Amino acid sequence: MSRFMLWPLLWILPLILCTATSEDGSAPASEPEECELQRLSMLQARSVLSSSPRLPWDDRVFVFGTYHKGGSTMMVNIVERAFKALGADMDVDSCFRGGFLKNITECMRNNVTSIRLFTGFFCPRDLEETKAIQKPRGARTVMEIRDPRDMMVSAYCFAKSGGDYGVQIFPLHAEKIPFPEILTMGPAEGLRVISQQMFGLLDCMNRSQQKVRDDPDVLVVRYEDFARSSRDFDKRVLQMFHFLFEDLVSPAQYRDMWEAVKVEDLNRQEESGNTNITEHTNDDECMRRSTAVLRALPDINAKVRDFQRSLGYA
Ligand SMILES: *[C@@H]1O[C@H](CO)[C@@H](O)[C@H](O)[C@H]1NC(C)=O
Ligand SMILES: *[C@@H]1O[C@H](CO)[C@@H](O)[C@H](O)[C@H]1NC(C)=O
Ligand SMILES: *[C@@H]1O[C@H](CO)[C@@H](O)[C@H](O)[C@H]1NC(C)=O
Ligand SMILES: *[C@@H]1O[C@H](CO)[C@@H](O)[C@H](O)[C@H]1NC(C)=O
Repeated sequence: MSRFMLWPLLWILPLILCTATSEDGSAPASEPEECELQRLSMLQARSVLSSSPRLPWDDRVFVFGTYHKGGSTMMVNIVERAFKALGADMDVDSCFRGGFLKNITECMRNNVTSIRLFTGFFCPRDLEETKAIQKPRGARTVMEIRDPRDMMVSAYCFAKSGGDYGVQIFPLHAEKIPFPEILTMGPAEGLRVISQQMFGLLDCMNRSQQKVRDDPDVLVVRYEDFARSSRDFDKRVLQMFHFLFEDLVSPAQYRDMWEAVKVEDLNRQEESGNTNITEHTNDDECMRRSTAVLRALPDINAKVRDFQRSLGYA
């Protein structure tokens, strides 16, 4: 399914296991020789890195494209934690609040322009815009998509619970979500209202995804693949990091990033104590009930199905 090769992960996973188990003194989970080998390559990588003080974003442009209700909060948090682990001086929260973020430069205290984060929508013209910044190691883009039906239902449930107060989900759409009316709209009426904006967003998501299909510098990830289980979360996060950073960071930095982003795993929230995640996700009952209602709205459901088919979800 993914065009990204998994082989580079093979050396990262045992490294995490070796390091994690040796730190608390218990027996290593994998073969001792294997761990020794990993330590060796880590040392070598460190010495290479120490002779080059450059930061990954000095050499490469990093672009993240996400969509409203498509797992964007999770991705924003992963990006922030990972880049901070690499030493970036950024504070996404301070510039993210109050709307969609298109330009992360404003979150970087040191004015780094080569990390770009699109938090509400990522249209084909946004893809073009990011090509303007040139770096020696080119650009790598991660685009996150989600099942269009879940995005549609989630947008309704979120607005219904008072989130997105009066926002334009999709800024190319002239009208905002009607507040406070939406708060008292049932799923049939609410979905109809929300769908006008969400179809614009889904169209962008579809067109961007079609456009990058054969681009080796773009990795399309699915929210579902991060949310399914902790094992999947780890696998996707490492796959994404390796695609983005390759040899621009050391194995130790890969481990630091992974340690830093683990708290964003939905399935680990209890143990990590990060209850902020659940506060942002929707109430299951609203999702279930509204999904059933959506299936019974022929015109909207048919269009959602078209997007599902185009994006490989049906
Ligand atoms: C991003 O923000 C910076 C700082 O405010 C500004 O200089 C730059 O022109 C902006 N870039 C775009 C593409 O909007
Ligand atoms: C970042 O840019 C602002 C506005 O252009 C400038 O005032 C500030 O000194 C810059 N900060 C750094 C660390 O370069
Ligand atoms: C949760 O959010 C609060 C307030 O925004 C923040 O202070 C806290 O660090 C967050 N917790 C985690 C685990 O990110
Ligand atoms: C998705 O984009 C492709 C390519 O542009 C197009 O052929 C297809 O009809 C689009 N799907 C929908 C549901 O608009």
